[in-house]
Amino acid sequence: MGGEKHGHTISSLFFFFFLVSIPYPTIAKKDGSSSNSSSSQHVVKYSPVDNYLINCGSTEATVLSDGRSFRSDAQSASLLSTTEDIQVSDKSLSNSTFSNTSSFLLSSSLPLYQTARIFVDDSTYSFFISRPGRHWVRLYFFPLPDSSYNLTSATFSVITDSTVLLRDFSVSNNNSLILKEYLVNVTSNRFSLTFQPQSKSIAFINAMEIVSAPDTLIPDTATTVSPVGSFNGLNNYALEVSYRLNVGGWPLTSLNDTLGRTWQNDLSFMRSPLLAQNVSISPSKIEYPSTGASAFIAPNAVYSTANEMANANVTQQNFNLSWEMNVDPTFSYLIRLHFCDIVCKTLNELFFNVYVNEMMGVASLDLSTITGSLRTAYFQDFVLNTSAVVDGKIRVEVGPASNVQSATPNAILNGLEVMKMSNEASSLDGLYTIDGSYVGPSIYSKLKIVAAVGIGLGVMAMLLVATMFVRWQKRPPGWEKRNSFSSWLLPLHATGQSSFMCSKSWSRGGMRSKSKSKNGNSGIMGLGRLFSFAELREATRNFDDKAVIGVGGFGKVYLGETEDKTKLAIKRGNPSSEQGINEFQTEIQMLSKLRHRHLVSLIGYCDENSEMILVYEYMANGPFRDHLYGSNLTPLSWKQRLEICIGAARGLHYLHTGAAQGIIHRDVKTTNILLDENFVAKVSDFGLSKTGPAINQTHVSTAVKGSFGYLDPEYFRRQQLTEKSDVYSFGVVLFEVLCARPAINPALPREQVNLAEWAMQWHRKGLLEKIIDSHLQGTISSGSLKKYVEAAEKCLAEYGVDRPSMGDVLWNLEYALQLQEVSTKIDPSEDNGSVLNALQPRSENDHNDHASTPAAVAFDDNSGVVNAPLFSQIGGFQGR
Ligand SMILES: *[C@@H]1O[C@H](CO)[C@@H](O)[C@H](O)[C@H]1NC(C)=O
Ligand SMILES: *[C@@H]1O[C@H](CO)[C@@H](O)[C@H](O)[C@H]1NC(C)=O
Ligand SMILES: *[C@@H]1O[C@H](CO)[C@@H](O)[C@H](O)[C@H]1NC(C)=O
Repeated sequence: MGGEKHGHTISSLFFFFFLVSIPYPTIAKKDGSSSNSSSSQHVVKYSPVDNYLINCGSTEATVLSDGRSFRSDAQSASLLSTTEDIQVSDKSLSNSTFSNTSSFLLSSSLPLYQTARIFVDDSTYSFFISRPGRHWVRLYFFPLPDSSYNLTSATFSVITDSTVLLRDFSVSNNNSLILKEYLVNVTSNRFSLTFQPQSKSIAFINAMEIVSAPDTLIPDTATTVSPVGSFNGLNNYALEVSYRLNVGGWPLTSLNDTLGRTWQNDLSFMRSPLLAQNVSISPSKIEYPSTGASAFIAPNAVYSTANEMANANVTQQNFNLSWEMNVDPTFSYLIRLHFCDIVCKTLNELFFNVYVNEMMGVASLDLSTITGSLRTAYFQDFVLNTSAVVDGKIRVEVGPASNVQSATPNAILNGLEVMKMSNEASSLDGLYTIDGSYVGPSIYSKLKIVAAVGIGLGVMAMLLVATMFVRWQKRPPGWEKRNSFSSWLLPLHATGQSSFMCSKSWSRGGMRSKSKSKNGNSGIMGLGRLFSFAELREATRNFDDKAVIGVGGFGKVYLGETEDKTKLAIKRGNPSSEQGINEFQTEIQMLSKLRHRHLVSLIGYCDENSEMILVYEYMANGPFRDHLYGSNLTPLSWKQRLEICIGAARGLHYLHTGAAQGIIHRDVKTTNILLDENFVAKVSDFGLSKTGPAINQTHVSTAVKGSFGYLDPEYFRRQQLTEKSDVYSFGVVLFEVLCARPAINPALPREQVNLAEWAMQWHRKGLLEKIIDSHLQGTISSGSLKKYVEAAEKCLAEYGVDRPSMGDVLWNLEYALQLQEVSTKIDPSEDNGSVLNALQPRSENDHNDHASTPAAVAFDDNSGVVNAPLFSQIGGFQGR
């Protein structure tokens, strides 16, 4: 099969060579730029040498509003070699189809999404490249409805001659326009793009661009953080654009950027938007230096806007402005920061520190000295190694340099780009190379050796593979029947290819032999360490009931201690429980995809003697609930409670938005929020969690799960699960935290049994303060309480659509914390109403902007789906 594929591609290249001499009218003949100082927006024109723009499936050429002309299928047919393909179109797809939902950024490319080409077999586009170097590859995907093919179930890979761009990619959400953008370095005069459907599936594409990028766009060197140094050889990496932000400015479309890029507004990525204020000057005032930044690096519209530190009158200005973006933690990233001093009146006034993931990127950045003048563009590239992206976040911070005495402490940022770098498999999606072999750590390294041997000793390797295959076939029958715990330990993106079967049997073999060795076990990717049963039995003193710290439908959780005194939480499944197996599988599936500071992390597992055991980090302070009521622990202060709620909200927000497919927890409650030794909150127990699309397909099932008292009434009525069900449960948690009583207490008089109802009644009467935890009485500032209750109340809205997103809840809680801190700073003993009132109006405005601005478009890193808040109402997030 593999050989056949290869032959196919090669022959297509030969075929193509006869055609390259046919000139295309759309290929521009020269590279170059021309200045036009009369216009402030399109100062510089760019004419790419190679410029293949194809509107796949279209019968006629398409000219976009930005002037770029895309070829029709007929005009590009000679580039394509395929056995069979089908065109689909839906001309009715228009701005009105996406009315009030259309992402502003992609609106000008809407005509590109109206048609598509479907491939039932491997198909290759081959391009003649007249000038090797960095090229943009932009791929447009939208699963158009079709009577014979279901594009939402299409699963396929897209590879170039050397790089995997997408592996087992699918677009299950038919309300999202997707744009995937890459910068690949083409080193020869040929470039091919192959679409490979998974077996029995199809591939599709709506439009594509293969366009020369300016040579200066991506320099070969960058700065490293941790440790600070320089990084050479960027040209060897393919890049995928994850985020591109016009900080403090409006979104920019291909109309505003001569290189056809789009720039989002940064507001939704700011950790504390209240601490920032935007500044702007006329774009025509921006100067470009003779070397370094140019209009190709970023248009002047980017440099002419920025965010600076807000004039917080309340405290001395000493904080960081901070942006946070979710990324896939298994990759390294190129981070480009754009700066331009548009805030100072004179030189040498502005010095600030730049941090990337809490590490110093530039100490006392002094733009005046670097550029020699004000309003001059400057950028700096940083490479962040995958080891520094541990929790799946990229954080960029700027703050005043404390060691430099300057008149006005300030810090700015004008633009921010995040690009994923290809890994050792030369892939931007997973650890498989273009020919499908696995290049990765842990047990798979064995497979790699096999592959290496295979190249040298072809026949022997084939024998080996055959043996393994037989072993696989001969696996004990019970293995499959047991619904195979092990099979869930395998990487989720693994497919049914023959190479995968080998790895499967190897993984089992590998685990068996490895489990004998005592230390240094590294288990399957993402699942951490492999424990032996004996080891865990010892750690829990033979699963002593005295060591039990929790019990659930799946079995028991034990506190264990290893020889080196590390404490572990050990969850031992009950193999006879069908529910147990399902919940285990769900938990493993979820946790292998997730990694976040506010989610409990999996340390390892044990898969011996039909055991299903998962090992987690031990959370020393146990469930949040125990610190609220029902035990004799010291009551937490209001600030501590807020911080814990913020942590939990962050974890849930990540679940809903951070992963490739949105994930709904389904069992949010105070016993599933655990606290570590520093009282950092972590959300746990993903046994009931669901990924978005599965629900869309199966929500007919009547199985309403969750915990009594926390259950979303709408979910209960309609059995349709959305992430807003988690928001409801979180609202109950918020009242539980405030009132320190259980969500349901059957011992109480009838009207008090259900906390959510009872609290809302008192709130409506304006008497909520009467029922708050007596330990908190008199310690909460009125502003903080107001904001908090407002958030809780909104979470409990009858209908999901009226409830805020977790991101909004998070924002409100952070604000409640700020208000509490401000009030204690001013006068710890007394609630200073006037200061709070002065702050209040501002907050309301900002919040409204935040919630409703259509500009707050977010690229979901894993999928590249463009998500505007409005857009998401018709299902925006890919995984919903
Ligand atoms: C800049 O700030 C003002 C007021 O704070 C706000 O109205 C405006 O929308 C902001 N502009 C951008 C581009 O975010
Ligand atoms: C972007 O281009 C559009 C169309 O030319 C224009 O209306 C808009 O003002 C531009 N935006 C910026 C920020 O320059
Ligand atoms: C700014 O961020 C850096 C890195 O996270 C941190 O070390 C520093 O203390 C922060 N500065 C302020 C004033 O918060």
